[in-house]
Amino acid sequence: MFYNTYLNIISFPSFVCRLTIGERQRKGAMKMERPRIAIFDTTLRDGEQSPGCSMNVKEKLRLAHQLDRLGVDVIEAGFPIASEGDFTAVQAIAAAVPRPIIAALARACVKDIERAAQSLSGAVCPRIHVFLATSEIHLQHKLRITQQQCLEQARDAVRLAKSFCRDVEFSPEDATRTSPQFLYRILEAVIEAGATTLNIPDTVGYSVPAEFAELIFGIRQNVRGIEKVTISAHCHNDLGLAVANSLAAVAAGARQVECAINGIGERAGNASLEEFVMALRVRSDRYAYETGIVSEQLFPASKLLSEITEVPVQPNKAIIGRNAFAHEAGIHQDGMLKNRLTYEIMTPQSVGVPDSTLVLGKHSGRHALGLRCEQLGYSFDRRELDDIYRQFVILADEIKHVHDHHLLDLIRESRGIRQGSQLSVAAAAPTGTSRKPLPLLPSDYSAATLPHNAVTEHHSEQEDYLWGV
Ligand code: KIV
Ligand code: ZN
Repeated sequence: MFYNTYLNIISFPSFVCRLTIGERQRKGAMKMERPRIAIFDTTLRDGEQSPGCSMNVKEKLRLAHQLDRLGVDVIEAGFPIASEGDFTAVQAIAAAVPRPIIAALARACVKDIERAAQSLSGAVCPRIHVFLATSEIHLQHKLRITQQQCLEQARDAVRLAKSFCRDVEFSPEDATRTSPQFLYRILEAVIEAGATTLNIPDTVGYSVPAEFAELIFGIRQNVRGIEKVTISAHCHNDLGLAVANSLAAVAAGARQVECAINGIGERAGNASLEEFVMALRVRSDRYAYETGIVSEQLFPASKLLSEITEVPVQPNKAIIGRNAFAHEAGIHQDGMLKNRLTYEIMTPQSVGVPDSTLVLGKHSGRHALGLRCEQLGYSFDRRELDDIYRQFVILADEIKHVHDHHLLDLIRESRGIRQGSQLSVAAAAPTGTSRKPLPLLPSDYSAATLPHNAVTEHHSEQEDYLWGV
């Protein structure tokens, strides 16, 4: 009785969002396109659950707009029952971001599902995401219910969610520690109840790639009705395997991957969106799939998230870390200056990073030092550069990173020592080149940027190795 009234209040404009991801994927498959992997971003939900990463409504909305520019298929905007703020954030995102599917999380109980449905009432493409733990550990110690009760609760919850919304995702929490036979039974039951996406979470990051692939494959083999729904992977990073497990899941038949910007999420985090997407793209020879991600928006998304949460990214983080495109070793710098294929597998520009950097430290060589001096407006002959290089190495040993002002001091000193030697100022570009003194990059130490020819010098057969040229 109550539900009927409620349904009238929040009927969704489902005609606007006619095709589910599964339907769109099957359509694509008919046209012999590469299968499309839907990117389900959970930065604003699982990501927000990581310590120090909570966001207010305004901040969530700002990030949601960036996720939209990034081209994610689904934004999990929050857990509406958790707080007024989360409810309002889901509502605001649903109203302001019409393109992607907006998902709201709910436990498998009436009040959560109703709240989630209510928060999504303004969404063009709403999804209710229902979860219930299924592993023996969780059933016995956390929920204190039997497998039969669990199965009935999951089925009833999905039925209820379905009465509000045609797009319903179900997650058997701790799936990777659940008995596969029980998992198959519960998945069958929620498909019958109307679930359209079955998400398989490795909740505690316990699985390894071959095992996770087997689980997905087993689900495809043993669950009746599985061909009607989309299989999704949701991997945590407790063993540092979240991205590897997500890739294994895709190879085994998953067509949606849940991930977060900068890999934030509970404990060690979720699969990092930028790493997963770029692994698919750079290694498209091994993974014949596509995503709708605009990869140039990856770095801006990462920066915005760090700015909002004030949680910095580790410098060596793949794809978007400060060092991901920085080269300090002399041999590497020399290779990069000759041809960037030597030490880079994708261009920084392809992920929205302005450029590669050559960091001046004790491992650097003459080639990069000479380049930076030129970029600062000075060019030297071989003997002069040797002098400066010797002093530079002594200094770098002491202070680790040599900044431009240190370098200018060395140049001045060298000028004093070598009375009468002529410094030629190379502010004007040498004839026949388009090289200009380049501005400093936004890094905390001096860095030479690559000259233009090193950036673009490539041949088409090499593009396999340098994505984004
Ligand atoms: O890790 C997990 O199991 C979850 C579910 C709610 C999908 O985040
Ligand atoms: Zn999770």
